[in-house]
Amino acid sequence: MIIILNNKCNFTKEEFLIYQQKLSTITTSHELVLCPSYPHFSLFSLSNCVLGSQNVATNGMGPYTGEVSAEQLKSYDVKYALVGHSERRKKETPKEMLEKIQQLCKVGIIPIFCLGEEAKEKQQRELEKDLLFLDNYLTSKEKEQLILAYEPVWAIGSGKLTSQEHIESASRTIKKYFPNNKILYGGSIDQENISILKQCSTIAGFLIGGLSLEIENLKKLLENLEN
Ligand code: PGA
Repeated sequence: MIIILNNKCNFTKEEFLIYQQKLSTITTSHELVLCPSYPHFSLFSLSNCVLGSQNVATNGMGPYTGEVSAEQLKSYDVKYALVGHSERRKKETPKEMLEKIQQLCKVGIIPIFCLGEEAKEKQQRELEKDLLFLDNYLTSKEKEQLILAYEPVWAIGSGKLTSQEHIESASRTIKKYFPNNKILYGGSIDQENISILKQCSTIAGFLIGGLSLEIENLKKLLENLEN
């Protein structure tokens, strides 16, 4: 499985170095993807993780102050990048999310497109809106590269657990448009609820936010995922 460790906007340089040291002691058969803040990319030195990015620019390299382009990420061996995370969506238009996916595909970074409803009862309608948009505007080559991460907004950082049934229903909706793409799940995952979540047969991995910062709990989570 793919396990995304989304550190979000956390860790000073010194804290990151301590965190990385602790993270280096983890062994797992799953693919760990560490998504640190940009300034920590040049400090990354783990052999048990690959690098992921929390974001990417809509533009290539050039006069775009404060942006980080897909080519720059590629030069740090970034393998995956998140697009459309709910914590960024207020600042992004659908067109910008599309451009980000296109920039990533151009350089061979795998885009992980995050989608999920704001309110539980609106799952179908809100997912379809995003899926239709992607389906209409991405080329078939771009579609092939895409990973979809189902993250109900109400479950992110809230401690609210999504039922297996609710995840399976989201997967069915996603598969109508992207039958062959990997689907990840994210939202308040912890070392205990992973035992339930791993039973979702349609899920190829997990996106972990808050818990990614706590190495001991992360180790327990990975143990529970293996057993
Ligand atoms: P959380 O975050 O695990 O803290 O809910 C998940 C995410 O934002 O992707």
